[in-house]
Amino acid sequence: MVMLRNITVQVADDYAAMSQRAAAIFAAEVKAAPAGVFGFATGSTPEGMYVELAKLRARGADFSQITTFNLDEYYPIRPEDAQSYAYYMKQRVFDPLGMVKTNLPDGTAADPAAECLAYEQKLADAGDMAMQILGIGTNGHIGFNEPDEVFSCHAAHVPLAQSTIDANARLFDDAALVPRHALTVGIHSIMMAKKILLLVSGAGKADILAAALGGPITPRVPASILQLHPCVTVVADTAAAAKLR
Ligand code: PGA
Repeated sequence: MVMLRNITVQVADDYAAMSQRAAAIFAAEVKAAPAGVFGFATGSTPEGMYVELAKLRARGADFSQITTFNLDEYYPIRPEDAQSYAYYMKQRVFDPLGMVKTNLPDGTAADPAAECLAYEQKLADAGDMAMQILGIGTNGHIGFNEPDEVFSCHAAHVPLAQSTIDANARLFDDAALVPRHALTVGIHSIMMAKKILLLVSGAGKADILAAALGGPITPRVPASILQLHPCVTVVADTAAAAKLR
């Protein structure tokens, strides 16, 4: 375990160990706040952690009383679409873990800007978020807060960076179908979580993780703002942690 000020980095041998470690940390937070508010992320990285959480549920852990808020959703997209984050969450998280008080930005909203305002308000009204699960994009994004000239504070309907569209193309049969826009919470909501659990896996994330934790705090690397958060736990596998000093 390495301590970087307010950031604890736990290095796990591989993806499986990272997933188990992260699941144990998350489950302990839910045990401490069984009806708390928790922030969820999609993507490839947390999939293993969600599988591990289902195993913990089978052994008696109870996730049914928590309220969940996801970071983001493609726009426009219907929740029945297998590429939507609503679908991902239902299949991999909400149903297997028995969660019913769930929230995601609505990819079918007629007015995306109004939806972002309403979602951010709902999040604020829910009270303190005990823990926010995060991944990091290879370009440093958190949620869909893409590299920019300024930090994007509030929830917004955003164009995705070309690097994100390229990274997501692996998940689509046809590159033309990769969404170009999304609804995302802003940096403010992420930073308001009491604790952040950042999962990072693979050699392809080593450079950006090192930049985020050890480089300048800059909107060019949105995750670098986490250096200012009071309580971040990073669980990285050896490959992703390779460039941390
Ligand atoms: P990934 O996405 O887990 O699929 O690499 C992470 C992210 O873009 O936040």
